[in-house]
Amino acid sequence: MHQLTSVERVHDDGSYLFTAEGPHGAPEEVIVVPCGEGVEAWRNRCTHEDQRFDTGQGVPMRDGEIICPRHGSLFDACEGDCDNGEAAGTTLPAVDLAERHGTVFLVDDDYEFAHEGGIDDDEGPSSTSHLGL
Ligand code: FES
Repeated sequence: MHQLTSVERVHDDGSYLFTAEGPHGAPEEVIVVPCGEGVEAWRNRCTHEDQRFDTGQGVPMRDGEIICPRHGSLFDACEGDCDNGEAAGTTLPAVDLAERHGTVFLVDDDYEFAHEGGIDDDEGPSSTSHLGL
């Protein structure tokens, strides 16, 4: 069980991004988003194509739905399901959280906390150097 953030911070900031070692031993980005008075966590990747929801600017959301930046499908922030656009009929893989007195913990046996932010955020500037070549 790893302490992540607070419910208040997720609601104030709009979302929270962290990286965890996922079920296949590879790093996975996870988003924590507001759901009603609480929060829910989902993998930071659209079910349609390999598109991140939070690309470093926070999760784009409207009226309790997560917006895929690539084709605009909307996912329910509480249920993770999508009934529209390219991703219609799919559901995001959930990541289990627990809330205690406003603090948010990662309690999913399949995910081991690595660090805050995206996968590349702890590797320094050199990790992006190849992108410009
Ligand atoms: S990549 Fe998300 S709807 Fe197409």
